[in-house]
Amino acid sequence: MISINNLQDMETFGHCLTRYLSAGDIILLNGDLGAGKTTLSQFIGKALGVKRNINSPTFNIIKSYNGKNLKFHHMDCYRLEESEEDLGFDEYFEDNAVTVIEWSQFISSYLPSNNLTVNIQTTNNDDRTITIEASGTHYARIKEAVERDLSSN
Ligand SMILES: Nc1ncnc2c1ncn2[C@@H]1O[C@H](COP(=O)(O)OP(=O)(O)OP(=O)(O)O)[C@@H](O)[C@H]1O
Ligand SMILES: [Mg+2]
Repeated sequence: MISINNLQDMETFGHCLTRYLSAGDIILLNGDLGAGKTTLSQFIGKALGVKRNINSPTFNIIKSYNGKNLKFHHMDCYRLEESEEDLGFDEYFEDNAVTVIEWSQFISSYLPSNNLTVNIQTTNNDDRTITIEASGTHYARIKEAVERDLSSN
């Protein structure tokens, strides 16, 4: 478990996680409305070296940016709840990019089985609790590294 007390802590988490990411990595962000999924995505994009403003992709579903070494694909699948439409996700996932997905449960059938899930829970005001789940050895190593760097217990 990782305790977040404010936006600065969330930025630190985003930077720490990003240090361990490489091409093809897929990060699923879980959490209620307003938990901070888009906020964390913005910090990950910033850590990847994206210079453009990163806005919520709720309307467009997928937005892509150039980072320093890797591209950044930011998805919000909230609007696919009814349809589960395949927007060509494989091409994004196989790209020289990091992909971060909000509301990934609505495209569950298109997700690779190996991924890193970041659960964000609002505790109160600016406090958040983060737990990480990894499937596959690659992501297990990332989880271990981030928890070693930041874990509060
Ligand atoms: N520690 C924190 N981490 C992240 N966001 C925080 C934190 N403290 C306060 N906030 C605020 O909470 C809000 C989180 O909104 P955000 O759009 O990131 O949520 P979301 O999970 O993407 O919601 P949605 O499900 O609507 O996409 C922002 O206004 C942000 O500034
Ligand atoms: Mg959002």
